[in-house]
Amino acid sequence: MSIILGIESSCDETSAAICIDGKIRSNIIANQTIHEKFGGVVPELASRAHQQNIIPAVQQAIGEAKIHKNEIDAVAFTRGPGLLGALLVGASFAKAFALAQDIPLIEVNHMQAHILAHFIEEPVPRFPFLCLTVSGGHTQLVLVRDYFNMELLGQTLDDAAGEAFDKTAKILGLPYPGGPLIDRYAKEGNATAFEFPKPQIPGLNFSFSGLKTSILYFVQQRERADPQFLLKHRDDICASVQSRIVSILLDKLTQAARETGVHDVAIAGGVSANSGLRNALLQLGEKEGWRVSIPRFEYCTDNAAMIAIAGHYKYLAGEFAGQDVAPLARWSV
Ligand code: KG4
Ligand code: ZN
Repeated sequence: MSIILGIESSCDETSAAICIDGKIRSNIIANQTIHEKFGGVVPELASRAHQQNIIPAVQQAIGEAKIHKNEIDAVAFTRGPGLLGALLVGASFAKAFALAQDIPLIEVNHMQAHILAHFIEEPVPRFPFLCLTVSGGHTQLVLVRDYFNMELLGQTLDDAAGEAFDKTAKILGLPYPGGPLIDRYAKEGNATAFEFPKPQIPGLNFSFSGLKTSILYFVQQRERADPQFLLKHRDDICASVQSRIVSILLDKLTQAARETGVHDVAIAGGVSANSGLRNALLQLGEKEGWRVSIPRFEYCTDNAAMIAIAGHYKYLAGEFAGQDVAPLARWSV
């Protein structure tokens, strides 16, 4: 039997989870609402909030899992990529805990963990599979050969898909993070009301900064003609933008499936919580004959359950980190 404590602190969620023999027994997430009024994550405020939240989150995770802290066999933490100050809080806690309990320390790559969230519950994807990992900081197409054998096939050249959602929301006057709000308003809107341009990027890479600029100019221009434009058309704009982001993502996924011949596909990361993306992928999967894996909502956005499950597989493989391990703001899959 193995009990793993997982710690996540790469951005604005402080999270702790307990995994017993590959099964998640608790997953506590402390959201940081302080960033809302700033329109984005303020790194220093994130670090301070992690510092306040981390011990209560760990205590609650241990309590909900009905274990004693002395039973924990290893502690897995997010080493990167992410905000350095935020990562330092989780890394320092994990090191101190490992040292005090005399248990191994396990470093986890946050982007790999988003993908490994698919192994929290049945049915799990079959190797090799393609994973479109879409979050606030990353947009990646990854060929997943095994738990820790992953190849980056393409990524964004500028903004991430989550950023495209969040920046659009900002243009529309919505608070951060705007992705979930756009998702909600899009359900009430007409996705063909407005047409936003599709970038022509070669290969399996993505670009979202041109889309953001075109949305900004579009809104400014329409508001000059009608100051009530945003009020009247918010839902249609959200639906049209969301539909464009989804089509950019799924076109590249389709291309990757054709080029690699891999027909097991998955989505991961915060943007994989988007209902437009989830529905469109299910439809596309049926048309293309893919086996599609979509994580449960709570495992899409940042959480420590995915860190704990990644830690579980590293524990089985005996892959441990030394006490001198340092966080990495950038770290490829
Ligand atoms: O993976 P995640 O929680 O954190 C990072 O590692 O970045 O992803 C956060 C991103 C944010 O940009 C947020 O707006 C977006 O995921 N997001 C969504 C939805 N839920 C979260 N975007 C669109 N629709 C959603 N339902
Ligand atoms: Zn993430």
